[in-house]
Amino acid sequence: MSEDDSDSDRAAELSAQIRAHNEAYHSRDNPSVSDAEFDALLRELIAIETRRPDLVVEDSPTRAVGAQPSQMFAPVEHDVPMMSLENAMDFEELEAWHERMVKGLDGLREFRVVCELKFDGLAVSIRYENGKLVQAATRGNGRVGEDVTHNVLTIDQIPHRIGNAPDLVEVRGEVYLPVSRFEELNREQIKKGEAPYVNPRNTAAGSIRQKDPSVTKDRKLSFWSYQLGQVIGGPEMTSSNDTFQLLQSLGLPVNPEVREYSDFDDVKAFCELWMSKRHDPDYEIDGVVVKLADLSHRDLLGSTSRAPRWAIAFKFPPEEKTTRLLDIDVSVGRTGRVTPFAILEPVFVGGSTVSMATLHNEDQVAAKDVRPGDVVVVRKAGDVIPEVVGPVTSERTRDSEAWRFPLYCPACGSRLERVAGDANTYCVNRACSARVETGISHFTSRNAMDIEGLGERTVGALVSSGLVSDVGDLFALNKNALLDLLVSDSSNETLVNNLLNSIDQARLRPLPNVLIGLGIEHLGPSAAELIARKFGNLERIANAGLDEIESLDGIGPVIAKSVADFFSDSHNKLVIEKLQLNGVRLDVLEGEVDAPQVLEGKSVVVTGSLEGWFVTRDEAKKAIISRGGKSPSAVSRSTYALVLGADAGQSKVDRAESLGIPIVGEAQLRTLLERGELS
Ligand code: IVH
Repeated sequence: MSEDDSDSDRAAELSAQIRAHNEAYHSRDNPSVSDAEFDALLRELIAIETRRPDLVVEDSPTRAVGAQPSQMFAPVEHDVPMMSLENAMDFEELEAWHERMVKGLDGLREFRVVCELKFDGLAVSIRYENGKLVQAATRGNGRVGEDVTHNVLTIDQIPHRIGNAPDLVEVRGEVYLPVSRFEELNREQIKKGEAPYVNPRNTAAGSIRQKDPSVTKDRKLSFWSYQLGQVIGGPEMTSSNDTFQLLQSLGLPVNPEVREYSDFDDVKAFCELWMSKRHDPDYEIDGVVVKLADLSHRDLLGSTSRAPRWAIAFKFPPEEKTTRLLDIDVSVGRTGRVTPFAILEPVFVGGSTVSMATLHNEDQVAAKDVRPGDVVVVRKAGDVIPEVVGPVTSERTRDSEAWRFPLYCPACGSRLERVAGDANTYCVNRACSARVETGISHFTSRNAMDIEGLGERTVGALVSSGLVSDVGDLFALNKNALLDLLVSDSSNETLVNNLLNSIDQARLRPLPNVLIGLGIEHLGPSAAELIARKFGNLERIANAGLDEIESLDGIGPVIAKSVADFFSDSHNKLVIEKLQLNGVRLDVLEGEVDAPQVLEGKSVVVTGSLEGWFVTRDEAKKAIISRGGKSPSAVSRSTYALVLGADAGQSKVDRAESLGIPIVGEAQLRTLLERGELS
């Protein structure tokens, strides 16, 4: 593979991962990776794009802020975009930012910067017209957020009316859940026998995105304001201090820990200080935001499409705690990969209790030299994925021994294999019960075939009884056999009926879901969709050669090879035959098949809500993309047309007009989709 190819493949891969994590974090309030890992992915993509500007695509996640707003709340277009912040992960990066400021300010060395705490909550923009709170919106993708007015109105610290107010003022800041309230809520959850919340940030985000404002009110959220959006008829302002004074005079909560400095050493000292007492306040902070204080300096530096150049977030390093490593165990996944993991004495770190952590592979355990019984350092970068950093060797007893990777599979007893050049160890026995069981659980999961009623225990029973040895067998199960297997009380008949119903329905799942369910390595949802559309049925995919798969636009060599390898395997062929025989639909229905690519190379922006042919804007976008076009959210020079729906914001219209881009309605979108051009 040439370097060109590998850059572009990696950029596409990173973009897809970042989008998925963004979606999980912002739209579902349920992060799928830690902040640090997310930052690492984003930085890698930025590095590639800096080196290879030709690879920057219009909708690159490096250009976007957050995720697309969900459909749950009405969209709100931000006239002044709500931007993100660039991160500095250490002092070196913070100093590099400072140097960029010196340069940007024409060599000026004496300028004031303001240091603020970086609140780990949810950014909102609150709009007051003639002193009355009329709208509150989340950041969303930075340009379009979600209308959460009713929920924001339940926050005590946010005034519904403000005196002496400008004609229009947008107050921006962070909604957060006080740590004490978070702990209290969790005590209540546990009392009710429900799962505790993960961390204050996500609980705050989940609370603000409730359909029922009384639920939001009960959570007792709070707010810090730190910025202004649009202001009309306000006082003259020249500095950050003026901004805070205005916010304060309007009765909005302003955090007291704001300092202005002109000596950069003081800035670093402020960061150090708060790093050491980050847990002192009753709100979570994950860094310090450093901004130029003088508003004219900010204007001079300006912004990129994602973040202002005049500010940077100094991120605290991930929090670390020590605990006892009780044992190391291994789990066997559906591909046969054997993963060691740490069983820990539960420890509260980075906002949640950790009792297990992956150790990745044999080399990682050896490199860290962690041993059962050790006191270990555990880290959690703000959110979800815990990590064992290493042992505290000074606390190790003399008789401690290095851990050895098991030689035999704990599930089936076959000898484990590890080949040179691969850090992973595998159980290569395809019939291994652990592999089969995890494979079935993956197949039945929500994103794949969505079969309900197959919990871990039932799957275990099906496999150990020999009724099911691969996913193909699921569709041959009959009621009597299931009753025999699962019978223990009378309620089982209903369970069995429900399960059989669910399996029956799964026969009709779309082809991409089947592909995902089969667990082909590297194949994610969008590639599965693309391959399904292009080939039309499973048989054609299975018979396609590597070249044919690789020639598809959007499918890189790694995915192509993995797909081709999967279908050339004789065992997999057998499974597919079973699926076919047992009546699983393995083709793409009419309407899901590729439309003619009439919009190839054209970019069509859709704004406002559509009501005629398309039920949602998303569907219109999908229709454009399925015809080879692009449908980014912003109007640019390369936009072919702007499709205007009801209640669209003015900013896109203005921009399209100023660039001379045709503005059309829904009827003309139909023409565009059919002919690829406007009539
Ligand atoms: S200023 C134009 N100040 O951090 C940039 N943001 O990672 C506006 N945040 O979107 C942001 N504390 O949600 C600013 N003191 C603070 C902040 C802060 C937390 C959040 C904000 C922003 C995110 C970027």
